[in-house]
Amino acid sequence: MGILDEQANSFMSTIDQYAVFGSPIKHSKSPRIHSLFAQQTQQQLSYQAQQVSAESFDTAITDFFKQGGKGLNCTVPLKELAWKRADTLSTRAQFSKAVNTLVLQANGTLFGDNTDGIGLVTDLTINHGIPLKNKRILILGAGGASRGIIEPIMAEKPNHIVIANRTVEKAITLSHEFAQLGNIKGCGFSDLKDQQFELILNATSASLTGELPPLTDTLLAENGCCYDLAYSNQATPFVLWGQAHAASKSLDGLGMLVEQAAEAFYIWRGVRPKTSDIIELLNSERGD
Ligand code: ATR
Repeated sequence: MGILDEQANSFMSTIDQYAVFGSPIKHSKSPRIHSLFAQQTQQQLSYQAQQVSAESFDTAITDFFKQGGKGLNCTVPLKELAWKRADTLSTRAQFSKAVNTLVLQANGTLFGDNTDGIGLVTDLTINHGIPLKNKRILILGAGGASRGIIEPIMAEKPNHIVIANRTVEKAITLSHEFAQLGNIKGCGFSDLKDQQFELILNATSASLTGELPPLTDTLLAENGCCYDLAYSNQATPFVLWGQAHAASKSLDGLGMLVEQAAEAFYIWRGVRPKTSDIIELLNSERGD
C-alpha cells in the first residue's frame, strides 16, 4: 500500500500539514516564517517543528506522511538521510547529496529538493545587490553546507571558487566532485596566502560554537563582502571578522533562511511569497 492509500485510510486533517524535522529544533524560526508566508498569500496550512533524531527519522517520516502530511523540511542532522529517503531528486539535490525539502507527489512517492543554495544566491544577488558573475569566491568549509551551495553559485558564473577547509582532503575531494561545473579548487586555510576574494562565504559550523576559521588579514579584496551561512541574534565571529576587515557588507544567514523557506513554500504551494517585509520583521526581532 502506498503512502496515499494509507492517508486515505487514516484520519485526514482538513488543513494541509507541513513540518520541519531536526535536532535540535526548539529554536527553529521556520514555523514562524511559514505561518507569515501563509498569512501573506492567504493559504490555509499548518506548519509544525518536530524534534526528530537521525535514529527516529525513518519512523517519523513514515508516520508524518501516513497522517496526511503534504511536505516536509529537514534540517541538521537529517538532510543526508532525507536525500537517501527521497524517491526522486531535483538536479540541485543530486549535486548537493542533501535534501531540505520533501514533497509528497500525486503518485505517493517523495520528491526531494535542496533550496539552501538558491536561498543564499537570492539573498546575495536580489536582497543585497551582490552579483556573483566574474567574482572570485572563497567558501570556508567542506561539509554539507558547502556542498549545498556550490552548484547554484556556479550557475551565476563566478570567475572561480576556492574551497578552504581544516581537513584539506575534504576540500580537494569536494572540488573534484564539482569540477565539471567550472573553475573550483580545494585547499587548506594556510594555502590561501597571497590570494584575495571579492566574496567570502563561511559555510563551516565554527560559528555555532563561537569559533572562527584561521583567516589571514589580506584575504578580502577591497570592497569585498563577507557572508556567514549561520545566523544568530548577536553578530557571529565571522560577521565581526568581516566588519574588522573593512568588508563593504558583512552579513549573516537570516535572509538565506527566509529565502530557502520561500522556495520550499513555492514548491509546495505554487505561490511565491514576498520575502522583504518578513526579513525586515525578523531582523527587527533580533535580540528580543
Ligand atoms: P554542515 O552540514 O553544517 O556543513 P559538517 O558536514 O559537519 O556540517 O561540516 C562542518 C564543516 O565546518 C567542516 O568543513 C568542518 O571542518 P572539518 O572538515 O575539518 O571538520 C568545519 N569546521 C567546524 N568547526 C570548525 C572550526 N572551528 N574551524 C574551522 N572549520 C571548522
